[in-house]
Parts: sequence; structure tokens; C-alpha cells
Amino acid sequence: MTLLDPIKRRTSVRDFIDKPVEREKIMLCLEAARLAPSACNSQPWRFIVVDDGQLRGKLCDAAFSGIYSANSFCKTAPVIVAVVSEKSKFMARIGGMFRGTEYHLIDIGIACEHFVLQATDLGLGTCWIGWFDEGAVKAILNVPQQKKIDILIALGYYNPARVSSEHNREPIDKIASFNSY
Ligand SMILES: Cc1cc2nc3c(=O)[nH]c(=O)nc-3n(C[C@H](O)[C@H](O)[C@H](O)COP(=O)(O)O)c2cc1C
Repeated sequence: MTLLDPIKRRTSVRDFIDKPVEREKIMLCLEAARLAPSACNSQPWRFIVVDDGQLRGKLCDAAFSGIYSANSFCKTAPVIVAVVSEKSKFMARIGGMFRGTEYHLIDIGIACEHFVLQATDLGLGTCWIGWFDEGAVKAILNVPQQKKIDILIALGYYNPARVSSEHNREPIDKIASFNSY
């Protein structure tokens, strides 16, 4: 088993089965996210795990209605994780301003991918969700309005026979080169 195995197996799951996810498994995913690197070790994230059925239903109804209804498949996910962006350390923010780089988004991306790959390794399916009603999510989860939720993660068991793990990606020679652009 190499790291490339879960990386290859991970695919976006949009059809979950009705089976609760064990808290111990969620904790392992959170531990993987916790260990992610971040600019100046800012760790600018907070993960709100919604696994209470009633709250999750309310959250999904609010987050994925109207223009966001393309993601209403998330209603089948037994767990939704809301990733709140927290303030980066001063040096990361100043450095980011000089560089014109949103380091906290890079940081959150790494942490979420750690989460997702650990979930894959545990036999769970995930889908990154960037298209949702953020205001509604913040209101339901008591997140202060001035904070940002850039991403949700849908998490749950799924039927692998119903999910294609084929990756539609550019070949390596189109995305990478040695020693020059
Ligand atoms: C930042 C980000 C936001 C995404 N938002 C959504 C989304 O709102 N809805 C959705 O169904 N998939 C979403 N995806 C999943 C992508 O569509 C998917 O990763 C991509 O098509 C590659 O397919 P794969 O994950 O199966 O390899 C998102 C992925 C990322 C990284």
C-alpha cells in the first residue's frame, strides 16, 4: 500500500448510502486535517462536523436550495463538514499581502485534502462542496457573520459499484516540466 493508492481511489462521491459514520473514523479524518502544514503554522481553520440527522437535514435544506440546488445530492450524505476560515498569523497575512497570495486558502485546501484522503483510506466517500448558501450555513451553525466558510465536505459510506473512479486528468507532460516553463 502506497500513498498513491488512496489518492487514486479518491473520487467525488455524490450518492451516499444511509449508514452512519462512526465518530472514531471522523476523528481520524480530523486528525489528518489537524496535521496539515500551513503558512507560518497558522492553522487557520475550524471544522464543524454536522452528524446530527435533524440538524443536517435543516442545514442541507437551507444550503442547497434555489440556485444551489445542483448540490442537493448532499442531502444523502450522513455527515457534512463546514470548514470555517480562521485568521492566519500576522506574518502570514503580511506576507500574503506583499505576495498577493491568499495563503489561508492554500492552507485550508491542504487540510481538507488530508481529511478527504484519510476518509478514502477508511472506505468513506467524500465530495468537496464549494457551491452553497454560505449565509444560511453560518446562521444554522452559529458561525459569526464576519467569518468565511469557503468549503464544505460531504462525507459518508457509498456503494463503490455506483461510483466511477476514473480520473479525467491532463497528462503529466502537459502539466509539468523539468528545469524550465
Ligand atoms: C474547491 C472545490 C470545490 C468543489 N465544489 C463542488 C461542488 O460544489 N459540487 C460538486 O458536485 N463538486 C464539487 N467539487 C468536486 C469537483 O467537481 C471534482 O473534484 C472534479 O470534477 C474532479 O473529479 P473527482 O473529484 O471525481 O476526481 C469541488 C472540488 C473542489 C476542489
